[in-house]
This record gives sequence, structure tokens and C-alpha cells, in this order.
Amino acid sequence: MTLSTPGPTLGVVGGGQLGRMLAEAAAPLGVDLVVTDPTDGCPAEPVASDALVGDFDDVSTIHTLAQRADVLTYEIELTDPDVLEQVAEETGTPVHPAPETLRLIQDKLVQKRRLSEAGVPVPAFRAVDSEDDLREAGEKLGYPLMLKARKGGYDGRGNVPVASADDVAAALDSINGPAMAEEMIDFERELAVMGCRGSDERDTFPVTETIHREEILRESVSPARASDAVEERARDVALDVLDSMSGRGVFGIELFETSDGEILLNEIAPRPHNSGHWTIQGCHTSQFEQHVRAVTGRSLGTTDRRAPTVSANILGDVEKRQRATLSGEDAVFETPRAHLHWYGKRDVYELRKMGHITLVGEDESTAELLGDVRALRDTLTFE
Ligand SMILES: Nc1ncnc2c1ncn2[C@@H]1O[C@H](COP(=O)(O)OP(=O)(O)OP(=O)(O)O)[C@@H](O)[C@H]1O
Ligand SMILES: [Mg+2]
Repeated sequence: MTLSTPGPTLGVVGGGQLGRMLAEAAAPLGVDLVVTDPTDGCPAEPVASDALVGDFDDVSTIHTLAQRADVLTYEIELTDPDVLEQVAEETGTPVHPAPETLRLIQDKLVQKRRLSEAGVPVPAFRAVDSEDDLREAGEKLGYPLMLKARKGGYDGRGNVPVASADDVAAALDSINGPAMAEEMIDFERELAVMGCRGSDERDTFPVTETIHREEILRESVSPARASDAVEERARDVALDVLDSMSGRGVFGIELFETSDGEILLNEIAPRPHNSGHWTIQGCHTSQFEQHVRAVTGRSLGTTDRRAPTVSANILGDVEKRQRATLSGEDAVFETPRAHLHWYGKRDVYELRKMGHITLVGEDESTAELLGDVRALRDTLTFE
């Protein structure tokens, strides 16, 4: 490969915080990034070479993007795999990960079926299209169970815990579409493994412990507070998952560690993932650099951890949507080894992901690091 300016162009469908961090990682590699996003002034716009405005599934915008790009990727699952396939055919620009991988992942039921057929351990699950189906699922899987919309859910939106047979009608009403039921896992902790498929290699990042509240990721911790045997199992499951995907790129693999140390797959994201943001400072190669390397056909970078690292999400804490003004960030700048990541979103609303803080450890315990990053995060407010 040779390098000159302008460099190869990576087209990204979606210009949210993931697109922004991809652009930040692409620049030093000599890769120019162009994004498409429905929002004029999306987070990626100030750091990308260009930002086109158009819906995530708009054929004509994605066609224009593909004509300008040497390779296409996506940072959001809401794009349409059929459109990506069509545009790839029309323009000859390859798409990574493969659109068929996106199609498989977009439907949580299809995803679980495929992975369980491939031998990946998953929670017991059933398809639910009617109240009768859900009642039957309750009998087979027991209550409480988790009802999930098959498509379109994120940050726990689209998931409804069902406590008993009395809640069946209300739960299905709130999903309002095809669903699946899953046994409720009484997990010891949640883990995530960022994995990557390159041209003829695959690799994983060190295992991350993920802490959710109200089904939204709050903090990521690496190393996870799990045994070596559990970490090894998590990595093995992640490699099996990578082997059943097609195309190149980074995958976020969400896992449960059960009370007896077993690993179950929760779900996969075919893109860099919130639980891997800590790798920007915490690993020799970040998940974003790794994704750019993989989709542009370069060798993968070393995924080793530089030091114990924790990240905390900065979420909106306001009741009504309003212009975002963060205060309290001086404390982050004053703290050694703390890093602020601001996503550049104009407006804030309740629980919107606005940024994150990463704290790189020295000799502290993981618990101390986690306490410190939480304290820093809690000094920030949008009120
Ligand atoms: N079967 C289950 N048993 C127990 N908890 C669960 C189960 N499924 C999901 N959860 C909890 O809900 C969280 C969100 O679930 P899931 O990953 O299915 O939703 P999502 O909306 O796609 O999330 P995100 O976009 O944040 O990844 C999980 O991280 C976990 O904390
Ligand atoms: Mg999830």
C-alpha cells in the first residue's frame, strides 16, 4: 500500500459519536472520512472531511457517498442492508461488515437463532407474535422474563421485563410489533468483548466489564473483575461469534457471566461499541483505529491493554430537551490521567449520550478507579 494526500476515503453511514471517533482515528492513518447523517451539524461533521445530509436508508445519499468513497462502512444499525447491497453493486464500492451481517444482526430473533445454531451459548429464547405465544413462553422460560422487540431497540428501549402472566397484554402492547422472549438471566456481571475481523486475521480486545443501570451502559472497566477462566471463556465465545460473521470490521459482543461462571451471548453490534471507548487511551490500538484498519484492508493493530482503564458515560440529566451546556468539566481537566470526550451534540435530553470520561490507572485497584471516574462524572451537570 502507498500513502499520499488526499488519502483513501472511507464513507460512513451515520455521523454520531461513533462516526466522530472514527474520523479522529482515521486522520493519522491518512484516511479521509466522509459521513452521511440526517442531522445537519452531526457530531462527526467538524472532524470529517465532509458530511452529507440524508436519512440512514436514503438510496441517493448513500449512492453519492459510495461514489466518493473507496470503501463503505456504517456506525449505526438503522441503515438498510438492501440499500447497501444495491449501492455496492451499482458503484463497485465494497461495504464492510457485509450487508448480510447487518441483516442478520438487525433482527434479534434471527441473530439468536443463527448464533445458537453455530454453537454459541445464548439465553433460552422463543419467538413471540401473539399473547398466546408470550404466555407459552412464560410457562417454558418462567417469570420474570425479558420481552424484546426484534428490531430497532437500543439503550434498553424495546425491552420490557414481564413479571407474570397478568402483564402479558400490556407488555405486548408496549412492544407493538414482532418480538422475542428471553429467560431473565440473574447474571453475576455483564462483560463485553470488542472483536475484529481483518482481511485474513481476527483478534479480540481485552475483556471489559460493563455496568448498566436502567438498561443503559454507565461504566466500562478493564480488566473485568472476573476470573481468568471466565475471561478466557468470554474470549473463546467472542472468537466463535467473529467466525460466524462475514466482512471485515469491529464487532461489539455483549455477554452475561452467570452465577456459575458460564458465558452467554446477549447481542452483537456490527461496529465499534460504547463498551470499547476505553480502548482509545487504554489500549495500544483503539477500537476506532482497528475498525478503520480492518475496513480499509490494512493489518490489525496490537490490542494489548496499556494499563487498567475505566470509562463513564456522560448522560443527559435534564427533563426537557434543551441546548447543551456542560458545567463542572474543570475537575476532569485537573485530574491526572483523566480524559474528556465531548461528542459535540447541540441539544441534551434525559439520558442522551453526550460524552464520556476515561481514567487510566496507575497502581489503584479497579474499584478505586471506578469510584474515581464516577465521582468525576457526578461533578458534571447540564442543569
Ligand atoms: N435476558 C436478559 N436477562 C437479564 N437482563 C437482560 C436480558 N437481556 C437484556 N438485559 C439487560 O438489559 C440491557 C440491554 O439489553 P439489550 O442489550 O438486549 O438491549 P439494547 O436496547 O439492544 O441495548 P444497547 O443498545 O444498550 O446495547 C442488557 O445490557 C442487560 O443489562
Ligand atoms: Mg445491548
